[in-house]
Amino acid sequence: MNITNETKIALFKKACDMLNFSYTPYSNFKVGAALLCQDGTVYGGCNIENAAYGPSNCAERTAFFKAVSEGHLKFDAIFVVGGPEGKIKDYCPPCGVCRQVMMEFCNPDTFSIFLGKSEDDIVEYKLKDLLPLGFGNADLNK
Ligand code: THU
Repeated sequence: MNITNETKIALFKKACDMLNFSYTPYSNFKVGAALLCQDGTVYGGCNIENAAYGPSNCAERTAFFKAVSEGHLKFDAIFVVGGPEGKIKDYCPPCGVCRQVMMEFCNPDTFSIFLGKSEDDIVEYKLKDLLPLGFGNADLNK
């Protein structure tokens, strides 16, 4: 799936918008995500922390769980941005748990993970490159 520059920028803007909803009284590290479904629908997500720390949820998983809970199971890409106090200074790569959630729902060869510092500084990875030899549902039958 070739994602146009226009779509990448729209995803970047949506991910940045989601920083406004990020709930981070403990880390103050804000993350926003924009998940592109294969039918073109985009779900936003933000990180949501908790006083008990463990129940905190990352922005990427928020976006996936919103989408899956509304019947979406096919995805092309996710854009992730973040930084201390919501200021984007560097790329914000997804944590290992979020990569595994992506592995559940996405084709690792084709699913794109976009990271960016600005509209003009966007990098793209495939899930297979960020989660080599990932364990997925097909492995349960081997
Ligand atoms: N965080 C995310 O939302 N996504 C990631 O992939 C990395 C970490 C959040 C979790 C926590 O609220 C904060 O960033 C600091 O770890």
